[in-house]
Amino acid sequence: MLPVFRGQNRCSLLQQKCSVADLRIGMYVASLDRPWLETPFLFQGFKISSEEELQQVRDICRYVFVDAELSSVPVPVGKAAQSYVHPSPVRDLAEFRSAIDRAAQVRARSRDYLKNVFSDVRLGRSVDTDEARDVVSGLVESISADANAAIWLTQLKNKDEYTSLHCLNVCVLTLAFCRHLGYGEQDLQAIGLGALLHDIGKTRTPLEILNKPGRLTPDEFKIMQRHPEDGYRIMKAAGSVPEESLHIIRHHHERVSGDGYPSRLPEYELNDPLMAASIADVYDAISSDRVYHKALPTDVALRVMYEDAEHTFGKRLMEEFIRCVGIYPVGSLVELGSGALGVVVDAGTDTRLLPKIMLVRDYDGAVRETAAMVDLAARSRGGSAEDWTIRRVVSPSDVGLNPHKLLLGASPVEAIIP
Ligand SMILES: [Fe+2]
Repeated sequence: MLPVFRGQNRCSLLQQKCSVADLRIGMYVASLDRPWLETPFLFQGFKISSEEELQQVRDICRYVFVDAELSSVPVPVGKAAQSYVHPSPVRDLAEFRSAIDRAAQVRARSRDYLKNVFSDVRLGRSVDTDEARDVVSGLVESISADANAAIWLTQLKNKDEYTSLHCLNVCVLTLAFCRHLGYGEQDLQAIGLGALLHDIGKTRTPLEILNKPGRLTPDEFKIMQRHPEDGYRIMKAAGSVPEESLHIIRHHHERVSGDGYPSRLPEYELNDPLMAASIADVYDAISSDRVYHKALPTDVALRVMYEDAEHTFGKRLMEEFIRCVGIYPVGSLVELGSGALGVVVDAGTDTRLLPKIMLVRDYDGAVRETAAMVDLAARSRGGSAEDWTIRRVVSPSDVGLNPHKLLLGASPVEAIIP
């Protein structure tokens, strides 16, 4: 079952700078005056619930940003906005654009394959595993060449093509994660094949259940839960599919609590590649718009999954996934302390809270004529560090901008979402 989105994780615009001396129990701390990773708090955003927690924040920080809307006590009015330093490009965007172009070509071919394989299997044909292997090889190469570009493209969602794009995204994220975990090319090939076709069993699920806009009834849910076993049978019949791939297809809904399906496997039977694919599956699903839920911003999706990880994927692997994709994954649209907007283009490994971004809108709300690359880690070491701190992730549709079009060099007018 998907983790539940908790209301208190949302962000609002009502944030006030607050000295730690003025901080009280019940105030919602939205961000700190230093990187979160230098603190005991794993995620941004929590309501102070005890004297102990209050003292902990006072010991670590000089000031914080408090969200008045999410606080249960009054918040003192803060000071005016901080000074702003105009950014300058730190590297040529052309390099990243070329990497996106190359990754997009591999992606287009993979998406076409998936669309065909799903319709073929629905018509009773068997899976072309040779072509599947070629597709996975292309994706492994693409991720080795530039994982940021491949992950960026997983953020481009299309409701009408959900199934094939979801399978593709799960494959890309699983491969990037398993590569991060140290798996070699041969293992990645088998893992990628399983991830790419993890939901092939849904070709046996009636479309009225698969596309039902509302909540499934218990009986419909039981039918839906058959898809991992069905997928396993389809791929076993296709022949010469590695055990590792079959394991992922059959067990990607098992959980460490032992109450997953179809086999309720115990934790010791759930290996890292299987759980990596399971994490990628849930992450892509909850950060995509569906008929029955709105996409969660990427940072909220990660936090919700982390909070539930003890029962689902295990804390260790979930923390590692966050290390791999970053707290602000590539492609996330982020609002800075200054009010400016940027898109994460390099999540970084040591500076996950201060990634490289492409600045797309200035602090005064004006869309930039030319996008600039900005290294937040470098900027925040200079003056006005608060301006360069990420305040929150925002949805492109909420601000009416298409980051992908801006990256590819469209004019700001072309990039406005109608
Ligand atoms: Fe599934």
